[in-house]
Amino acid sequence: MDKADARPIYLDACATTPLRPGVQQRMVAVQNQAWGNPSSLHCFGIAAAEALERTRVEIASLLGAEANEVLITSGATESIHLGLRGLASSLPPGRIVISAVEHPAVTAAAQALTPLGWQVCMAPVDAQGTIQLDRFAELLQPPTRLVSVIWGQSEVGTLQPIQTIGALCRQHGIPLHTDATQVISQALPDWSTLPVDLLTASAHKCGGPRGVGLLLVRGAWKQQLTALLTGGGQESNLRSGTESAVLLAGMAEALSQIQRCGVDALSNSGNGIRRLRDALELQLGQRFGVATIGQPDQRLPHHLALLLRDRSGQPLSGRRMVRVLDREGLAVSSGSACSSGRDTDSSVLTAMGLPREMRRSSLRLSLGFWNSDDQIESIVERFERALLTCSEA
Ligand SMILES: Cc1ncc(COP(=O)(O)O)c(C=O)c1O
Repeated sequence: MDKADARPIYLDACATTPLRPGVQQRMVAVQNQAWGNPSSLHCFGIAAAEALERTRVEIASLLGAEANEVLITSGATESIHLGLRGLASSLPPGRIVISAVEHPAVTAAAQALTPLGWQVCMAPVDAQGTIQLDRFAELLQPPTRLVSVIWGQSEVGTLQPIQTIGALCRQHGIPLHTDATQVISQALPDWSTLPVDLLTASAHKCGGPRGVGLLLVRGAWKQQLTALLTGGGQESNLRSGTESAVLLAGMAEALSQIQRCGVDALSNSGNGIRRLRDALELQLGQRFGVATIGQPDQRLPHHLALLLRDRSGQPLSGRRMVRVLDREGLAVSSGSACSSGRDTDSSVLTAMGLPREMRRSSLRLSLGFWNSDDQIESIVERFERALLTCSEA
């Protein structure tokens, strides 16, 4: 390998992303011009408040929402807790239905409702991780009062049929929250037509900064939200704490670039990332026989979830492969290590019915704007060397 070839390649977009070009510059400009506290009454505060509100309007318009439907938070975890716990605490206790393939933040927020008298029910998924719609529809009977479904699954990439899920919830008058954290990095949804009542997003998955996210919430449900963080009364009294016009500007810049990409990456029309992912999938499958999880047209376009095995078909450890690949200069993650790199069994793969030894063999590759065609050859070579090392062990 020459020196250029040895540079590490980042294939872990679902964990976090570097800043998109121009994001840092925009944040620096806002920090310089509008660094005041948006609640202060002097000119420094007014400049910050104006910057914040202009950016809120910009983000709202990018997403087809009204500015007063955008609540700024610290990221997806907080948005999920505000959306679910904040709404449930003003509803009479009942049942909350979540899918069996949620991010742990949703499962934890739902579990936090049980001391208030709520029951948590998980809607089952099929072998591809797609929610079983007939079972889901049955679960919308009383006492269900709240639903949360992840739109684009972070571990296996499955896209849920959110339009159908939303329509079913609407028929029953049940508010639906969706965790769109991974979807928004690929294409901006049109909130004005989406049959969803609360939506979570996070900037650092989209080429924006860490520490800022949003909760979109429709007016009728916003009136029923209860704050989790109380104090200064910011964000319509729903999320106290000094707002960061700087971080929000970074998020707006990242979202506007995603919109400018123009192509609806969630449809079947190919865009750059999908093409790159498909090329990689083809090579890894053909040359090393690794299996892909999920169906091609129902997955996040930048996501590749693999099951590793050696030549005799025996599953290989995904966690070991992550470490060996890191030494080869490929940054990926093992499917089961969704929280702090801990070796926990994957509840997502369990829900999809994969046996335990296969669950341990999963590997996630997720691509971003920094990846390009000319990296494919090197990725495949590094993968081959790592696979050999892991097979020999
Ligand atoms: C689907 C999904 N939801 C929520 C989160 C939590 O995001 P944040 O780090 O912004 O709290 C993540 C992060 O991995 C995610 O992938």
